[in-house]
Amino acid sequence: MLLEVNNLQTYFQTSRGSIKAVDGVSIKLEQGEILGLVGESGCGKSMTLLSLLRLVPHPGAIVGGEILFQGGDLLKKSSREMTRMRGRDLAMIFQDPMTTLNPVFKVGEQIRESLRIHNIFNQSRFSERKRLKQEKERVIQLMEETGIPSPMDRYYEYPHQFSGGMQQRAVIAIALSCEPKILLADEPTTALDVTIQAQILNLMERINRSHGMAVILVTHDLGVAAEFCRRIAVMYAGKIIEQGLTDEIIENPLHPYTQGLLRSIPHIVPDKPRLRPIRGTVPDLLNLPPGCTFLPRCDYAVEVCKEPQEMRDLGNGRLVRCARYK
Ligand SMILES: Nc1ncnc2c1ncn2[C@@H]1O[C@H](COP(=O)(O)OP(=O)(O)O)[C@@H](O)[C@H]1O
Ligand SMILES: [Mg+2]
Repeated sequence: MLLEVNNLQTYFQTSRGSIKAVDGVSIKLEQGEILGLVGESGCGKSMTLLSLLRLVPHPGAIVGGEILFQGGDLLKKSSREMTRMRGRDLAMIFQDPMTTLNPVFKVGEQIRESLRIHNIFNQSRFSERKRLKQEKERVIQLMEETGIPSPMDRYYEYPHQFSGGMQQRAVIAIALSCEPKILLADEPTTALDVTIQAQILNLMERINRSHGMAVILVTHDLGVAAEFCRRIAVMYAGKIIEQGLTDEIIENPLHPYTQGLLRSIPHIVPDKPRLRPIRGTVPDLLNLPPGCTFLPRCDYAVEVCKEPQEMRDLGNGRLVRCARYK
């Protein structure tokens, strides 16, 4: 197992109380696998990814659990070790490319900087000039690989001269520059047009295949996850509420929340008569119902749902947190 996250807890201590943004999340990721992490906005997807990199913003903090990467617990690493691992072992792509790109530096130079930080061409027998040449060649190669046209010219352009889709390609090139074992992609296509979205997802899929790099794709769109991921974990109010192989989740969603998400996607179930959004809204994490957090929105709620629900293991990697399944 490449990555095994056990009972991860990331809380925010605020003046109004403790917010359990990530509340006991457990996920596994195999070498080269694509896992989708799906859920409505505010359910803790980004904080889960940031926790994996130990980059949770203040006043948030990881308060429990373990993050086993190739067997070693990332939560026990020194901050120096973590810095070395970021980018090289786990790289992240953010929703907004300008989170990563610096507007005042040339795009090619920014990709090259990433190679340099991680000492990709640190052969001391090479002169600085030789090293620079190697780095530049690699940048051009990365730009070609991520589908940036005329990379020789584009190398010298600034981020604002790139379209949104091209900026995201540059960010992917940066993420790929160190050939990480895991790519964490946080809504990488949400800011883009539908056609560009598909191009970027195809690009990531191609890279996943050619490099055997594992991907965790975070998206609020179950449709996107269904097309792209082998397995899906559905998150609600800080917890995973269902997990399984994509085909099984789509054909036979078990949790009422997953069923609701599926009903609200137009293109997956074309034969269904009409779209039905999930009623109600995402709960306030400061004010969660004591039992099943989905209870206020659930059509199947019964008395027992007023108690907290454990994750049930149905075998074959299928997990669900709902009282309807014994
Ligand atoms: N800076 C912050 N201060 C307090 N709470 C926060 C902060 N950032 C995030 N949270 C809490 O963490 C929850 C999960 O956030 P996030 O992981 O960004 O959700 P998602 O990515 O699924 O939309 C939010 O609903 C919010 O309650
Ligand atoms: Mg988010």
